[in-house]
Amino acid sequence: MGLSIQDWDWLRAQMPVARQWAYLDHAAVAPLSGPAQEAILQWVADATSNGSVNYPSWTVRVEHARTLAARLLGALPEEIALVNNTTAGVNLVAEGFPWQPGDNVVIRADEFPTNQYAWLHLADRGVETRRIPSDASGRVELDQIAAACDRRTRLISVSWVAFASGWRNDLDRLAELAHARGALLMVDAIQALGVFPLDVARTPVDFLAADGHKWLLGPEGAGVFFTRREHLNLLRPVGVGWNSVRDESDFSRIALVFKDTAARYEGGSQNVAGFSALAASMALLDQYGTEAMSSQIVEITDLACERLQSIGATILSDRSPERRSGIVSFEFPGRDPRELQRRCLEQKILLSCRAGRLRISPHAYNNEDDIGRLMDVLK
Ligand SMILES: Cc1ncc(COP(=O)(O)O)c(C=O)c1O
Repeated sequence: MGLSIQDWDWLRAQMPVARQWAYLDHAAVAPLSGPAQEAILQWVADATSNGSVNYPSWTVRVEHARTLAARLLGALPEEIALVNNTTAGVNLVAEGFPWQPGDNVVIRADEFPTNQYAWLHLADRGVETRRIPSDASGRVELDQIAAACDRRTRLISVSWVAFASGWRNDLDRLAELAHARGALLMVDAIQALGVFPLDVARTPVDFLAADGHKWLLGPEGAGVFFTRREHLNLLRPVGVGWNSVRDESDFSRIALVFKDTAARYEGGSQNVAGFSALAASMALLDQYGTEAMSSQIVEITDLACERLQSIGATILSDRSPERRSGIVSFEFPGRDPRELQRRCLEQKILLSCRAGRLRISPHAYNNEDDIGRLMDVLK
């Protein structure tokens, strides 16, 4: 993308965590960027000194998060709802969809629990959840998904990137498959949003949800939900409140007329600190763009794979160009992953264990030194 080492060093300088830590765990809970920290501190100072006097400026910050989320997805701001987390977004679909007994939803069996429980919870409404198994690399063939669908399949729900294996699903082909069957596509985007490109004008996903606390470098509890505009009247709003209706500031007149935007799903007061911080981190990432971010992340994860293999690790993640992501799952045969993780932590290197294997998830600001520190402990 024509970006130089200096550009990435500048991004690194915006990440105070990198001064001490080789932080290789963005698929778990990411550190805040410096601008996100600043945004929270500013809000705390304002709310402490002035209460709600400057409330209009808070609204501007929250709306900035919506604008940036829309821009990131190639969506309209009217198609974005600001939500508490991924779970809240998935449940807007699970609870609001016009299910009929006998309908089914197709998912992968290795989905993060949220993207399973929300659907399994529909069993008492007569909705079946069909779970397709994957192998250790996260592989699920499109044919397997197609074979699980029938004329009662209303929805396919997948993670953009699988949290344990790092397998990146082909959203274009999944949208095509779902639509050809008369179903819709729901995407849990938390493991790629902000760092891999997605344009919903070209890739027609129907619904998408992600919290900001991973690749977007925001805090926990401030997330985004996307719904295509044409589905606004498909989902019955749940969690309805003062902020769901068109005249949200007129508390003395009751008129249950929903906003004609996705903001109808927001219900009540917003997490101002959280969305201010999320907007600040998104603005930082936006300076680079997802094409540059993804190339940089692929470069650093490819380097990590090469070096891990050179010291005897087995890479479980599929690293082919169309599947690789920011998540790498690996193991050292005969060695205890928890013990290795503990030794890394002692040396201020953060990584996770998932599905009994080690998992690293470097961001674009991580560099060769961080990978070198990891090798020093693991070799
Ligand atoms: C794929 C996936 N979805 C969702 C979440 C988290 O959900 P929430 O944002 O509701 O806390 C995670 C966290 O690890 C995840 O990996």
